[in-house]
Amino acid sequence: MAMLGAAKQAIRTLGSRAPTPATLSRHLHASPGSKKIVGVFYKANEYASMNPNFVGCAEGGLGIRDWLESQGHQYIVTDDKDGPDCELEKHIPDLHVLISTPFHPAYVTAERIKKAKNLQLLLTAGIGSDHIDLKAAADAGLTVAEVTGSNVVSVAEDELMRILILVRNFLPGYHQVIKGDWNVAAIAYRAYDLEGKTIGTVGAGRIGKLLLQRLKPFNCNLLYHDRLKMEPELEKEIGAKFEEDLDAMLPKCDVVVINTPLTEKTKGMFDANKIAKLKKGVLIVNNARGAIMDAQAVADACASGHIAGYSGDVWYPQPAPKDHVWRSMPNHAMTPHISGTTIDAQLRYAAGVKDMLDKYFKGEDFPAQNYIVKEGKLASQYL
Ligand SMILES: NC(=O)c1ccc[n+]([C@@H]2O[C@H](COP(=O)([O-])OP(=O)(O)OC[C@H]3O[C@@H](n4cnc5c(N)ncnc54)[C@H](O)[C@@H]3O)[C@@H](O)[C@H]2O)c1
Repeated sequence: MAMLGAAKQAIRTLGSRAPTPATLSRHLHASPGSKKIVGVFYKANEYASMNPNFVGCAEGGLGIRDWLESQGHQYIVTDDKDGPDCELEKHIPDLHVLISTPFHPAYVTAERIKKAKNLQLLLTAGIGSDHIDLKAAADAGLTVAEVTGSNVVSVAEDELMRILILVRNFLPGYHQVIKGDWNVAAIAYRAYDLEGKTIGTVGAGRIGKLLLQRLKPFNCNLLYHDRLKMEPELEKEIGAKFEEDLDAMLPKCDVVVINTPLTEKTKGMFDANKIAKLKKGVLIVNNARGAIMDAQAVADACASGHIAGYSGDVWYPQPAPKDHVWRSMPNHAMTPHISGTTIDAQLRYAAGVKDMLDKYFKGEDFPAQNYIVKEGKLASQYL
């Protein structure tokens, strides 16, 4: 999608976090010689060999092993990422590059960054680098980059599906069929058309805009809240109205979709107070990040009926523990973190990671929009 002029440009530029002396101690680009590259991906086990394009799993390793090893680099791939005795922890002291995905995030804490004396580059195979302590990375002079735009269509399509699943009350009907039941009333009493409903997206960046575009033919009232207003022409084309004040938008919405990054400002943004501002019976779709929600407040509101349905694929932490409150709350349509890891998306973010590694080895810059931390500065969306 075309960029939106000067204002949009401004939000994409890197913020002004002052470099610290430590920033100078690590280099943006690779020094010559063999590098130790560690990839952390979800394990696919019996599914690994079922599709030759399934490159996003640990077994697939983004399809870059032969390429890396042919250049003399060491490539270690694991799914074992949490706790002091995990496989990842063993490689922290001497790795140069760490690649991880939001689907199975390697949590890169300040403590891990301190231990990682050779670390130069953190790559996110996908979008959203909140699994990294970005301030600690900036202070340590590390580069953090992601494959901006790689899976935005995948996520927008999935959000549209989740909206329909909730509005039409699809899941109880599906479960009836599995159980051998037949009860039309139990579904129909709370199934609606999407047409004519008010849908608001909190965040209208790449994914938010693609969702609004996909919703337009459904003849809904489309609203968006963002730090930035779209150019009038794009706003008109998409057919969505800007809501500068989030608290004013929320009570108008039948469906709220979350499309902001997880930042210090959005963390826990939907707490009990914010949820109280939502229309009673609201439906929520959140494929952005689990921690934007106060998990217990969402579960409580689902139990009381204030939230009539909640669907998304993002949790905190990931993998979600067996006793996570969202697993058992009423009227949810949750899945594991899957929306941005379709085979199409995997091929795109694998190619993006390979391209950035190639540039890193050659001392070239990455595409500007991919940088999340560069030379001690955080991308503005994370400030
Ligand atoms: N579930 C998945 O598989 C998946 C895949 C990709 C991305 N994501 C999530 O979706 C997020 C958005 O992705 P994108 O590509 O659309 O990013 P983007 O940077 O294009 O858009 C984010 C938008 O959020 C807005 N924003 C940021 N902070 C805000 C705030 N405090 N209040 C209001 N608006 C704010 C920005 O101005 C921007 O327009 C990612 O950061 C990631 O967390 C999830």
